[in-house]
Amino acid sequence: MDIKNLRLNYEKSTIDFKNLADNPIQYFMNWFEDALKINKQEANACILSTVSSDNCPSSRVVLLKGVNKNGFIFFTNYKSSKAKDIDANPNVALNFYWPELERQVRITGIVKKIAINDSDTYFKSRPRDSQMGAWLSDQSKVIGLDYNFMDTLNSLESKFKDKAIARPLHWGGYCIAPIKVEFWQGRPFRLHDRLVYKIEDGEWIYKRLSP
Ligand SMILES: Cc1cc2nc3c(=O)[nH]c(=O)nc-3n(C[C@H](O)[C@H](O)[C@H](O)COP(=O)(O)O)c2cc1C
Repeated sequence: MDIKNLRLNYEKSTIDFKNLADNPIQYFMNWFEDALKINKQEANACILSTVSSDNCPSSRVVLLKGVNKNGFIFFTNYKSSKAKDIDANPNVALNFYWPELERQVRITGIVKKIAINDSDTYFKSRPRDSQMGAWLSDQSKVIGLDYNFMDTLNSLESKFKDKAIARPLHWGGYCIAPIKVEFWQGRPFRLHDRLVYKIEDGEWIYKRLSP
């Protein structure tokens, strides 16, 4: 396997530094729309990185489920490993890589649980199977190699028979309020375009970075 010779010359697009948005959320939405046109299924897949109480970093894929002026929203189990990291340290990073567009977005920010009623609203909108899944999984806990979810699924199905499935209290959303957002566009000769937004004195400012 010749890994060292795997390389692409990036040449699909550029960042127009004369035509930028005032804030990174607006700029992100433009790029996200471009990504959705190319990858409707999972343009919202992103890498969430957290740091544990003993300073170990950890990354995993989550699905972005909303963006608003406050930040970037995802849903998970509030007792999972990532949630324990977040309890200890709310500084997180989120990374999107859209290879079809030769684009990366790197977000760092402070994460907080979203309002209970917003988690309820989203939970209600999920398919019944996914709602069941939230009840069934003690996310990140060790389970027996022969553990069979069907037993618990059957008892859950009878518990909620002909009823709406309530949101488990340990499952809900988080919102990452960004403090720094970098947009990266691959360019020929590895001379990539990089644009970074940062909050300074309560205002967004942007700068270009060397590749
Ligand atoms: C494409 C994809 C999407 C995922 N989306 C989510 C998600 O939205 N929320 C979530 O909790 N886990 C999601 N996962 C699973 C996580 O990557 C991870 O395995 C899980 O959250 C446990 O992480 P933790 O032990 O670090 O808490 C997804 C995984 C993949 C590959």
